[in-house]
Amino acid sequence: MSQFPVLPLRDIVVFPHMIVPLFVGRDKSVAALEAAMAADKEIFLVAQVDPAEDDPVREDLYEMGVTATVLQLLKLPDGTVRVLVEGKQRARLGELTTGDKGHLLATLDLVGGEESDEQTPETAALMRSVVDQFENYAKLNRKLPAETAVQLGEIDNAAQLADAVAANINVKVADKQALLVELDAAKRLEMGFALMEGELGVLQVEKKIKSRVKRQMEKTQREYYLNEQLKAIQRELGNEGEEGDGDEIAELTQKIATLKLSKEARTKATAELKKLKTMAPMSAEATVVRNYLDVLLGLPWGKKSKIKRDIAAAQAVLDEDHYALEKVKDRIVEYLAVQARTNKLKGPILCLVGPPGVGKTSLGKSIAKATGREFIRQSLGGVRDEAEIRGHRRTYIGSLPGKIVTNLKKAGASNPLFLLDEIDKLGQDFRGDPASALLEVLDPEQNARFNDHYLEIDIDLSDVMFVCTANTLNLPQPLLDRMEIIRLEGYTEDEKVEIAERHLIAKQIEAHGLKEGEFTLTNEGLRALIQRYTREAGVRTLEREIAKLARKALRQILEGKATSVTVTPDNLADYAGVQKYRHGLSETENQIGAVTGLAWTEVGGELLTIESVTVPGKGAAKVTGKLGDVMKESIETAFSFVKARAPSYGIKPSLFHRKDVHIHLPEGAVPKDGPSAGIGMVTSIVSTLTGIPIRKEVAMTGEVTLRGRVLPIGGLKEKLLAALRGGITTVLIPQENEKDLAEIPANVKEGMTIIPVSHVDEVLRLALTEPLEAIDWTDADELAALPPAPIAPAGGELHH
Ligand SMILES: Nc1ncnc2c1ncn2[C@@H]1O[C@H](COP(=O)(O)OP(=O)(O)OP(=O)(O)O)[C@@H](O)[C@H]1O
Ligand SMILES: [Mg+2]
Repeated sequence: MSQFPVLPLRDIVVFPHMIVPLFVGRDKSVAALEAAMAADKEIFLVAQVDPAEDDPVREDLYEMGVTATVLQLLKLPDGTVRVLVEGKQRARLGELTTGDKGHLLATLDLVGGEESDEQTPETAALMRSVVDQFENYAKLNRKLPAETAVQLGEIDNAAQLADAVAANINVKVADKQALLVELDAAKRLEMGFALMEGELGVLQVEKKIKSRVKRQMEKTQREYYLNEQLKAIQRELGNEGEEGDGDEIAELTQKIATLKLSKEARTKATAELKKLKTMAPMSAEATVVRNYLDVLLGLPWGKKSKIKRDIAAAQAVLDEDHYALEKVKDRIVEYLAVQARTNKLKGPILCLVGPPGVGKTSLGKSIAKATGREFIRQSLGGVRDEAEIRGHRRTYIGSLPGKIVTNLKKAGASNPLFLLDEIDKLGQDFRGDPASALLEVLDPEQNARFNDHYLEIDIDLSDVMFVCTANTLNLPQPLLDRMEIIRLEGYTEDEKVEIAERHLIAKQIEAHGLKEGEFTLTNEGLRALIQRYTREAGVRTLEREIAKLARKALRQILEGKATSVTVTPDNLADYAGVQKYRHGLSETENQIGAVTGLAWTEVGGELLTIESVTVPGKGAAKVTGKLGDVMKESIETAFSFVKARAPSYGIKPSLFHRKDVHIHLPEGAVPKDGPSAGIGMVTSIVSTLTGIPIRKEVAMTGEVTLRGRVLPIGGLKEKLLAALRGGITTVLIPQENEKDLAEIPANVKEGMTIIPVSHVDEVLRLALTEPLEAIDWTDADELAALPPAPIAPAGGELHH
């Protein structure tokens, strides 16, 4: 029995048919290799029980090993050796001796013959499942080259397969040794399978852990990255990247601490801030909360303008800004005086009522100036939603506070002057009644605790001074009850001239950038402008016309056609365009049936023509001209009155059997209503029926009763102003309105003859060009004048 040089292996078990590279460093091992190379290159490879043992003796080595052939040997410069060996056959260690070079020599008991080619179906099945298992194993174990599994699949010998598997799996030396020891191939396959199974489990867990760790890492990294990006974006947007939300919160906290919030507001703000802290800074909810805090903290908590209490100064400011309006200004100053003394605003709300362009809005502004309050104009025209006043609940997306809160924030002081403009244009629909919300705002008893739906807390409006404006008193009664009405009537021509010369012209010169002396409108020119281009109660159109002149003048100057422009009545048309109104009489001749009435409308007084003619008919009255019910009834009344008194006015009653009267009020498309045209109707009808013309210079107003009494009317000043504008010289007014003349400017009264009347007979005497002559009228005459009656067929019915 031959002896083999022994190469003890520290951490590897070599199997038959395996080719493995080995690094050999121990002297004894190098010597063993040299001995093998000197002979037939055969060597015995056996694993050490304890890999740390440097100089193993018999007990340190396993019993089973393999014989192997050295295929290559390479001596490295440092004295170690690299060899490539191929395992041959299992062998048991016999006797161990030391060779001449100091290396180990062993006698071997070769174990072989168990590697039969014969395959039972079980081994075949076993082999297949081992190969499958190995494939799975190889997939998880990255250290194995991918083709190893393929190579294993090609082995058809069970023993060889078992060894190949054993060599390739990554298990402990002891386990591998056990595989080497087992001689039964089938058992070895089973053992290999079991080892891979265990190993697979471990690998799977390992993989899971790895990917979990990786995911975790990725998530943290991703968040970090995104956050950095976000900061960069915010910085780009100018949101001061450095002071991020931390500072925002600090700022809000600071605000809450320092502002003079009400207790309720402080609680609410603190709660909202707490919510905000827990939210992602850029989320939608956070934006909602932030907006809310903006509004709440933006209100003028504890900030007040210093109120001027000097009444004389207030009067001076009002006088400076507005010409005329003496009574109105007096009333306003009285109101301010009470406030200055009582220090309270409790009391009715001022409401300035009057036609357009008489200075209601601008008076409001002056009051603010006179009292040192911030001025906030809040137009109510077209507001039809309660939420516009009171805000939307925060549950709605994009909800906002109401106008009151928004404007209060804008005012920046808790005691501004709120001008509620055009309060009569307030709408009302299914979304709730804005007027009722206003009630709460305007009621001094309630407005210390005004509740805005958005803010959800009460705010104090008791320091706000409210002033309303309106064109008509067409307001809900509860609102009216809270207001003190101050009426502004229209201006007379002289007042308009003064207003224009004191304010409007200078204002337009400045607005158009014209220089001193470049634009002049002479007094006569101005008067002509008022007479021929405007017909209004206020001065708005006048202001616009002046602006037009200024514009045209500026253009001429810039075009170099003139260095300065003076507008006189002669060149007015060049600048103002075609004359719009004919100043003077509304009628140029005395006419039959055409009366000048006086009407009062939202836009001031107006001249109203009443026309009538007779048409064939049966004594009925026909009316046209878009008349309201009251006016239609007043025509019925007038007509009945005339019928009843016909003979005394020289009208034959038989006329009513042949004629109808058609009464029309131009302009036909403008709605008209009211009873005050009554005496005008009577006059028109009488004139038509008698053929006596009406004096063109007379205008009249007054309601008429069935017995001819003249009843008083409203809006006298407006009507008189309209008459004056229209060039009327005589105005007939109801006797009972005579007392109102005290309030009419002197120049109006001087410009016309105003005659109070109490009965229609007086009216007719004054208005008709000829006196009426009563006729004698008897029933006999009446019968004779009747048309022949149709003769009915005797005893039969009348067929048509
Ligand atoms: N008495 C006045 N003195 C000086 N300027 C006046 C006077 N009255 C009106 N104005 C001027 O006329 C212009 C129109 O007045 P404003 O806008 O106040 O009218 P308003 O009464 O509010 O009309 P509306 O009912 O149409 O709102 C303003 O430029 C105003 O300054
Ligand atoms: Mg206005």
